[in-house]
Amino acid sequence: MNGTEILRRKDISHFWHPYTDINTLEQSEFPVIERAEGVYLVDTEGQRLLDGISSWWCVNLGHSHPDIVGAIRKQSGKLQHSITAGMSHTEVIRLSEKIIAIAPGNLSRVYYASDGACSVEAAMRISLQYWWNLGRPEKKNMISLSGGYHGDTLGCAGLGYISRFHRSVEHVLNRSITAESPHCFHCRYHRKPEDCGIPCFASMEKAVTENSSSTAAVIVEPVCQGAAGMRIYPPEYTARLRKVCDENDVLLILDEIAVGFGRTGKMFASELAGIVPDMMCIGKGLTGGTLPMSAVVASEAVYDAFRSNAETDRTLYHGHTFCGNPIAAAAACAAIDVYEKENVLGNVEMLSEMLSKAFSRFRSIRGVHGSTALGCMSALEISEESGGSGTALNIANTARRKGLFIRPLSSVLYLWPPLVTGKKEMEKMLRIFEDSLIKNLVQKQIQVHPL
Ligand SMILES: Cc1ncc(COP(=O)(O)O)c(C=O)c1O
Repeated sequence: MNGTEILRRKDISHFWHPYTDINTLEQSEFPVIERAEGVYLVDTEGQRLLDGISSWWCVNLGHSHPDIVGAIRKQSGKLQHSITAGMSHTEVIRLSEKIIAIAPGNLSRVYYASDGACSVEAAMRISLQYWWNLGRPEKKNMISLSGGYHGDTLGCAGLGYISRFHRSVEHVLNRSITAESPHCFHCRYHRKPEDCGIPCFASMEKAVTENSSSTAAVIVEPVCQGAAGMRIYPPEYTARLRKVCDENDVLLILDEIAVGFGRTGKMFASELAGIVPDMMCIGKGLTGGTLPMSAVVASEAVYDAFRSNAETDRTLYHGHTFCGNPIAAAAACAAIDVYEKENVLGNVEMLSEMLSKAFSRFRSIRGVHGSTALGCMSALEISEESGGSGTALNIANTARRKGLFIRPLSSVLYLWPPLVTGKKEMEKMLRIFEDSLIKNLVQKQIQVHPL
């Protein structure tokens, strides 16, 4: 047994992996990653794998970025942790100022959490207490999109319910009111997203207008419903949602945990829609994907509702031990500097063109049902007739053997490379992606149906 096999044996003896079928894991020769640099993960055998999904959509600035690593190193020698209830520290002050400088419109307050789900929980809690503080406790419902995903805590799963992930706890969830998903891969109205007029928005409009008196907030993933299968939808949807929320006295929360920090080509997806939410959830790319830190960025009007007066204690009694942790805050400060200093959005423009060209070409491969691309997000769906999710998994396995790590979402295969990926590395990722598609879709069909 070699060193990697020993490590795998130890791993499956004790480590409980997330989102992983136990039997499949135990029988597979999964990579054991030892280090990473730039767009490459390097395993214990020295094999270099292109990180085609930015390690769960967060390593936007590549692995081991020297500025971020340096900031973590420096901060960890100075202050590792310090409580933020009733007191502060230098790094969280510096970071809050930086976040507000890049946040859309008049958002002016930052509340910190750790993972994405914790920031969504906090945004939900803030929106409920906001109305309670204003003397309107009857506004206690949330509205979200069918197929939305906002994290896996029980509160978040009630908001963003994905049957495959959450059906075993459905009986205890407090489910939100849901509106129809803007599902362009399978548009019910048979329109093209470029000029569809978003007829699917009628369902959201109805949900908000009919439930406005009992609803605290609407939450959506702007522009792309990620975990549902990379459903990219027109920004106009979010623009119209802002208007409907305003007209009906309902708060708007944008969950930018996956799409924020440059993924769409703008720093935040709300900029594509030209709107400002009441609250925005951020995570993942905030620290360049290096340390767990998330936040809710809120408007002054929301914050103001939490000022106590002589009659009522309106304090937000919600928090986590590691709120605004100094090492994570230092990493996030360094990451925000890198986004600006290295013109990451300029690079996304280049990558965006390459991805959208390639993915529209892939659409003509037999067995590809449809494809979509925006910014540094691109995806395609394997048709049911061509084996759907089973074939998608085979394609991902082929890609991994060729040096590209991707992970399907059922029958959807996607590429979400780090935003700093170079032209040559992007070409390599696309070449491997295409070869893997052809090997599993075209060559297989030729073998089954010889001409
Ligand atoms: C849109 C969105 N919201 C929330 C989350 C949850 O974030 P976390 O996994 O950090 O809890 C995710 C995770 O992928 C996400 O994509």
